Amino acid sequence: MSVKTTKTASGDVAPHWHAKANEIQQFGTVIADLPHPLSADVRGSMCEQLNVLLADTLALRDMYKKHHWQVSGPTFYQLHLLFDKHYEEQAEMADTIAERIQSLGGVTVAMGGDVAALSTIPAPPKGKEEVPVQISRLLEAHKIVMSLCKDIADAADDAGDDGTNDLAISDILRPNELQSWFIGQHLVEMPLILAK
Ligand SMILES: [Fe+2]
Repeated sequence: MSVKTTKTASGDVAPHWHAKANEIQQFGTVIADLPHPLSADVRGSMCEQLNVLLADTLALRDMYKKHHWQVSGPTFYQLHLLFDKHYEEQAEMADTIAERIQSLGGVTVAMGGDVAALSTIPAPPKGKEEVPVQISRLLEAHKIVMSLCKDIADAADDAGDDGTNDLAISDILRPNELQSWFIGQHLVEMPLILAK
């Protein structure tokens, strides 16, 4: 028995899923005529810096998930949960940065390979590492992100971009400071049973 299919233009209910066309806006560009008080030059410069911050935030987010999966040892449970909490918070931060870029008329970096090429955070190996190494990598990544936040906030201040200045400090720098503290305290040597 043969299966009947619909193929006529008038009767076809299939979705039009073979669409192919050129990009409508290239990465690295900003929309010139936007109902926004900042000039295209300022918005372009901010988007360029924010995309590096976005790439670093996505790299840090993914490093947290890697460590969430690969962590072992006596602190497994608390770190397994803490790493995932920070992963979720980094994902929120990435979304905040990305939507700022789009609202300034830019284009966000998004896919893994492009993120890896743009990020300034040293990539961890694929394999599993000890807890102190995992945490040291996270602390180094937080430091890079926080330094970048400071640079972007200063540049935004100079350019009169109050929104980006506020985002860099309130939405990204301060949560990273808090996460860095929570993680860093796990590397303080402390007696578990007998006081020194
Ligand atoms: Fe999980």
